[in-house]
Amino acid sequence: MAAVSPASRFSASQFSAANPKAKPFPSSFIQFRLSPSRHFPSSSSAAAAAAVPSLPRKSFSTSISCSVRPEYIPNRISDPHYVRVFDTTLRDGEQSPGATMTSKEKLDIARQLIKLGVDVIEAGFPAASKDDFEAVKAIAEEIGNAVDEDGYVPVICGLSRCNEKDIRTAWDAVKYAKRPRIHTFIATSPIHMKYKLRKSKEEVVEIARSMVSFARSLGCEDVEFSPEDAGRSDREFLYQILEEVIKAGATTLNIPDTVGINLPSEFGQLIADIKANTPGIENVIISTHCQNDLGLSTANTLAGAYSGARQVEVTINGIGERAGNASLEEVVMAIKCRGEHVLGGLYTGINTKHITMASKMVEDYSGLQVQPHKAIVGANAFAHESGIHQDGMLKHKGTYEIISPEDIGLERANEAGIVLGKLSGRHALRDRLKELGYELDDQQLGNIFWRFKAVAEQKKRVTDADLIALVSDEVFQPETVWKLHDLQVTCGTLGLSTATVKLTDADGEEHIGCAVGTGPVDSAYKAVDLIVKEEATLMEYSMNAVTEGIDAIATTRVLIRGENKHTPTHALTDEPFERTFSGSGAGMDIVVCSVKAYISALNKMLAFKRRAPAKAAAASSPDRTHVSA
Ligand code: KIV
Repeated sequence: MAAVSPASRFSASQFSAANPKAKPFPSSFIQFRLSPSRHFPSSSSAAAAAAVPSLPRKSFSTSISCSVRPEYIPNRISDPHYVRVFDTTLRDGEQSPGATMTSKEKLDIARQLIKLGVDVIEAGFPAASKDDFEAVKAIAEEIGNAVDEDGYVPVICGLSRCNEKDIRTAWDAVKYAKRPRIHTFIATSPIHMKYKLRKSKEEVVEIARSMVSFARSLGCEDVEFSPEDAGRSDREFLYQILEEVIKAGATTLNIPDTVGINLPSEFGQLIADIKANTPGIENVIISTHCQNDLGLSTANTLAGAYSGARQVEVTINGIGERAGNASLEEVVMAIKCRGEHVLGGLYTGINTKHITMASKMVEDYSGLQVQPHKAIVGANAFAHESGIHQDGMLKHKGTYEIISPEDIGLERANEAGIVLGKLSGRHALRDRLKELGYELDDQQLGNIFWRFKAVAEQKKRVTDADLIALVSDEVFQPETVWKLHDLQVTCGTLGLSTATVKLTDADGEEHIGCAVGTGPVDSAYKAVDLIVKEEATLMEYSMNAVTEGIDAIATTRVLIRGENKHTPTHALTDEPFERTFSGSGAGMDIVVCSVKAYISALNKMLAFKRRAPAKAAAASSPDRTHVSA
């Protein structure tokens, strides 16, 4: 079983011990508990004030406390301090523009989510398209039955709008899991009901009630209900609709701040009010789902948990619609560092040592890069640049570090002073990758090793950034349909650029294409197009030199869109939307890595379509090499 949230080594205790009088949360966060009526003039504020938690405070100590994950019962948690982590990277996260992931990529991420020990995996929105359905089903079948020796098995959840077709489709996808859950939602804010749904309050309550009841009638014992846009919904109406869905059999009530408009004090009060005023609420779990439009999703989530929510909906790296969601790593590490002393003893079941790998995997598969200064997982999160900070760190790490890198699966770099170069062996490479947070199997390591050797032949010193680029290029790639074999380009001022490209298809057959273009990358992409014969529009192209100097490894990222063939339905808007596909490539030759990135995006698009690669084109040529110009 995954280790359960031991207090961090450089955690609350150390921080507070250094300054016992320090106010742990901004005063606005606790103010609402003291005088709720001043900030929330609602009829229910007195009751709500009473409902703000009065959990017994755990003792103030520096020892590492380990708890056992409570047994899973859909509508109840035996330990009032335990907070369930519901990961929606594969559903809300994948709704981010460009973040399309293939089934294989989603399965890889789901496997990593098990290592992390998340309680619930929202695997997708099965009614969106056949691909989405198949991906959720595959996750339910494999991940939803992966029971470890302690009996831990994650709940697999599928999203559905409040209609029978969606709910039945969600059930058909998740029912293979040991612990299946249907998550159904309908909007409850005045603006959504009037303009999006065009329905009255009464109609909305009736739909919600009957659809939760329908989900239960299919045999699903774990049903989550969300009043979409709860953050802007009328309180009394929320109590009413929530009461009805509880009676209909909902086991978790998720309270979304869909547009990310709430402030932490408001959102905390919303949860407290719901807890105090909804009949039957003691029989269900309250959950948070906070979007990040004002950059407050983590703060709001914590405020919600502090007010009594015992499920938090989060995504790896905080990816999600628009400005994203509350990030798993921020919420979990905040609870780990401060839960004991500031949040009344809250803890989660997350094994935080797998955070770094999860973050890197999601970054590469989604194509959404993590900003360097992102909390917890940004490249600079543990970098100490200024002299004063470095001096403090040398004297005592706790001076500037509230979390130790080891807590999230990083190890302190090169304390033995080892520099990787052409004489370094597999062992040294494995150790360094482990220090960087990568958990690779032998085959993956073997592939990286040969790439590493090739780079080391050309560069005196192979840096961490080089290694990260190589892992990205070698490990986090979609299923290979097309592979770059050779590339020859002529370019310059004397004429049009010309490219000759040799690709191999999934059967190992070779295809050659030649094209002219406005530059080396343009001509090479055109040559690829001649072979692959898939309509694709290049939406974005970017290149980074990841290391200093003329021998830098470059990483190219592209985003492409197929021609109107990938239009699943968006869960929240009901509109079809066009999927876009990201791809990346790394290497010392910038044209080669540009072509690799393009092929990687095309492979992702093709994997999505589940189409056999270029069989027709290959069939006619006896020498198994096909030439297009
Ligand atoms: O943001 C939102 O309201 C949602 C719900 C479906 C939970 O994603």
